[in-house]
Amino acid sequence: MTIDMQNIEDFKFTSENMSAVKTIIAKYPAGWQASAVMPLLDIAQRQNGGHLTQMAMDYIADILDMPSIRVYEVATFYTMYNHKPIGKHHVQVCTNLPCWLRGSDDILGACKKFLGIGNHETTEDGIFTLTEVECLGACVNAPMMQIGDDYYEDLDAEVTEEILSELKSGKVPETGSRIRRVSCEPVTGLTSLKKQADLRKRKLEKN
Ligand code: FES
Repeated sequence: MTIDMQNIEDFKFTSENMSAVKTIIAKYPAGWQASAVMPLLDIAQRQNGGHLTQMAMDYIADILDMPSIRVYEVATFYTMYNHKPIGKHHVQVCTNLPCWLRGSDDILGACKKFLGIGNHETTEDGIFTLTEVECLGACVNAPMMQIGDDYYEDLDAEVTEEILSELKSGKVPETGSRIRRVSCEPVTGLTSLKKQADLRKRKLEKN
């Protein structure tokens, strides 16, 4: 991943974000404030409309008293940080092993077909950006994709297109497992703790 070194726009946290930053830094012992780099990068990215600039990373390096290169290393390692503007909806399709074994090629293919773009591209209307990513930690309900802050799990190509279509028309698609798995129970149904699961399911359906 490359950083846009031409982007020299100044960056400073808003006062609201700065107070969140101070709260985060205070969670770490004195001298270990560099541990706060990831949440600070996340706050900066959100404030900046979805991507980081070099100035934002340098600013964070100053706040945390760490070399800028250390911040760049973190920001370019994780796919959760973007280094160029993204669309309104950032579609991140996991193609790591468990998702791949459960059909992530179909999910990625459905996204490419529906959106008419390739990996790391944004639709002309600026609504969608598509990115193929590594494991997002929802392997138990594979295959899955993340859009914005939401996870969509137990997908197939048809459901994927439905989700994108709903987003395109301004609707809010249902998140979580699309086969209505509760949490990460076996796809063939529970084998134990059935009574507790029934109670929980009923509670969820009520809400
Ligand atoms: S492999 Fe896809 S979420 Fe872990």
